[in-house]
Amino acid sequence: METLLEVKNLSVSYFTRRGEIKAVDGISFNIRRGEIFGIAGESGCGKSTIAMSILRLIRPPGRIVDGEIIFDGTNVLQMSQEELRNFRWKKVSMVFQGAMNSLNPVHRIGSQIAEAILIHDDVSRREALKRAEELLTLVGIERSRLKDYPHQLSGGMRQRAVIAMALALNPKLLIADEPTTALDVVVQRQVLDLLMDMQRRFDLSLIFISHDISTMAGLSDRIAIMYAGRLMELADTKELFSSPLHAYTRGLIKSLTGFVHKGRRLWSIPGSPPDLDADIPGCSFEPRCQERSDRCSSNTPGLMEVEPHHYVACNRVT
Ligand SMILES: Nc1ncnc2c1ncn2[C@@H]1O[C@H](COP(=O)(O)OP(=O)(O)OP(=O)(O)O)[C@@H](O)[C@H]1O
Ligand SMILES: [Mg+2]
Repeated sequence: METLLEVKNLSVSYFTRRGEIKAVDGISFNIRRGEIFGIAGESGCGKSTIAMSILRLIRPPGRIVDGEIIFDGTNVLQMSQEELRNFRWKKVSMVFQGAMNSLNPVHRIGSQIAEAILIHDDVSRREALKRAEELLTLVGIERSRLKDYPHQLSGGMRQRAVIAMALALNPKLLIADEPTTALDVVVQRQVLDLLMDMQRRFDLSLIFISHDISTMAGLSDRIAIMYAGRLMELADTKELFSSPLHAYTRGLIKSLTGFVHKGRRLWSIPGSPPDLDADIPGCSFEPRCQERSDRCSSNTPGLMEVEPHHYVACNRVT
């Protein structure tokens, strides 16, 4: 499959009073045309920072310190403001983390979507409203709700509306950052089905971000596992679940299937991720790893292709 987006050796830091926080530390991956690509990892591992970097929305104290982001042959990091205006929403759009809770409470849902269209496209207000109506119907919201305010819609409906808004300018790539967190299980399923439906219908590439790999199991073609700002493993979804190579990936999978008998606690990986403001020598997962060896505390493993299309960063494997 053809490559749509290349992220090469991306490093992003936040420069705070505590020092430099290396939120994303030398990450590389490609997104193919029409694929669903999952990015998973615990809270704080840098998932949203990657998403914001792709749209060049990192603001101080954050800064992209190294790397390249190539979309359809063009380096996003070198785009002018004018080029960025044609890139955001039209080529790549995003369902921001928590967006369904940050809709403007005083504007009706239809006009909020129309407003977003008007900012990015040269159409009349009437056309924008008509398009908003079509989009809401497309994501399963009845026409009669067009004049509702956000608080009149359920969480699932608000998330649908936010997805509709992100699709308004026919992007080629949609980034959905934790689109199902905070929704109950049934509604989660509906939102996932909607995303899959939209992806197929518009032949979108989709980056699906979640801290929960179980939500991406049935959806993603490939999954990237992040830990403390680094990429630990990347493989086809089936392969990742059937033969995970990184101890961290195995831990994540085990913590999904670990809810066994009454009274027994859900299994989770012992320990917690490291502080990102300290330089981490060696593998960042080493302190929590059941399979560590002596060199893990000093040698930082790079991401290597150890099976065709199966990449891992682990001293034990490479
Ligand atoms: N504006 C900021 N200033 C300082 N540090 C930040 C800022 N934004 C993010 N960080 C830090 O960067 C790291 C990565 O954050 P990021 O939001 O990308 O993680 P995430 O994987 O999306 O987490 P979550 O699952 O909680 O959404 C974290 O340690 C976070 O504290
Ligand atoms: Mg996030």
